[in-house]
Amino acid sequence: MSAKIAYDALIHPDRVHGSLYIDPAIFKDEMENIFHKGWVFVGHVSEVPNVGDFARRQIGRQPVLILHTPRDGVKLFLNRCTHRGNLLCTRARGNANSFTCPYHGWSFGIGGELRGMPMPGGMGEDFDKEGLSLAEVPRVGIHRGFIFASLAREGMSFDDYLGDAKILLDRAADLSPEGEVDLSAGWLKHRFKANWKMLPENNTDGYHVVTTHASLLRATGVADSLAFNDEKGDPSLIRDWGGGHTELDFAPRYRMMGMPFLWFGGTSPKKLPNYVAAMREAYGEDVANDRMMDGPPHAIIFPNLFLAELNITYFYPVSTNEVVQYYTPMLLKGAPEINARAIRQTEGAMGPGSFLLPEDACMAERNQLGLEAQYPEWLDLRRGMGREHVDAASGLLSSVVSDETTNRAFWRHYLSVMSEAA
Ligand code: FES
Ligand SMILES: [Fe+2]
Repeated sequence: MSAKIAYDALIHPDRVHGSLYIDPAIFKDEMENIFHKGWVFVGHVSEVPNVGDFARRQIGRQPVLILHTPRDGVKLFLNRCTHRGNLLCTRARGNANSFTCPYHGWSFGIGGELRGMPMPGGMGEDFDKEGLSLAEVPRVGIHRGFIFASLAREGMSFDDYLGDAKILLDRAADLSPEGEVDLSAGWLKHRFKANWKMLPENNTDGYHVVTTHASLLRATGVADSLAFNDEKGDPSLIRDWGGGHTELDFAPRYRMMGMPFLWFGGTSPKKLPNYVAAMREAYGEDVANDRMMDGPPHAIIFPNLFLAELNITYFYPVSTNEVVQYYTPMLLKGAPEINARAIRQTEGAMGPGSFLLPEDACMAERNQLGLEAQYPEWLDLRRGMGREHVDAASGLLSSVVSDETTNRAFWRHYLSVMSEAA
């Protein structure tokens, strides 16, 4: 029984137990406590701008549909026919007037209501269509267009869940002169054989970059710079935003270098005249210059959203040793000069023929294989414990770029969620 797992015996401040990545009973607890009871990222309003637009997603293991309904805007429904449970919609995304189940032909409107069925006479006279509308996901929260959902009727509020990390979503949207990102370019996916936790752990791990991504750093001419190496003087910071949300903040390095758009390949502002003008027009020169200097966030919103600078990724856990990760370019509304190149940049960084994401996926698979070895029982997470500190400017627990402060923050929150539910 899952209630018997003593998570506090498996998670210590400086180490975590290997079984956390391979035990099916722990995976089952995680689906329930983190993915089904908690809040997870599901999509963005720009994917369903018009009435009838839909996008197929999952919350943990459960299939759902994001639907732009005629009367109530964006809602989420479980993607399950209310007759005998068939998966109602199999298309990834589109626009519909109705959904008809292929099994016995029950048909549902785009507000989720049951419209009709073949040979309705057989259902009996007191048949109540209303009770057979699609099941609705009980709680949906939207911030700056990012849609999150919880399958639990009660629990932590959306505001409490996001906490201060809403600033990270703001930082992404505020790079657009219109204050909105656009995630409608379409999602590509990688399926790989690793435990899902390796994604949020790795995505704000600044320690692996110089080794795992050595070839990328060489190809882009960054290998000899101080980037990602605090011993050479990279002032970038890692941060614990609370609630399992973590960040790798490169802005201190960009500011030290004193050049805007280092987050965009160091492009000269002269090559982005319309974007620079639109940002200054929208926000004033000082604020716009700051944003163009600091760039987009590189952060995890617990458990499954990765704000990966000009990319967005999320994932579905499949089993203890399998995960599917989705990614799309983060386009900025009102910024065509940025967007045209952002799409190419996503292909270069995240696509199957790229460096960055395949290198991380490869490391995650090797990690999973290594963890099949039973000894040593523990993974060591003590790096930087002696030097992390609460940063005076942000009030957040922070440390230098190569420390494991973010990993410890992830596990601290994981322990609190898993122990609460045990
Ligand atoms: S299961 Fe959908 S109509 Fe029967
Ligand atoms: Fe990486």
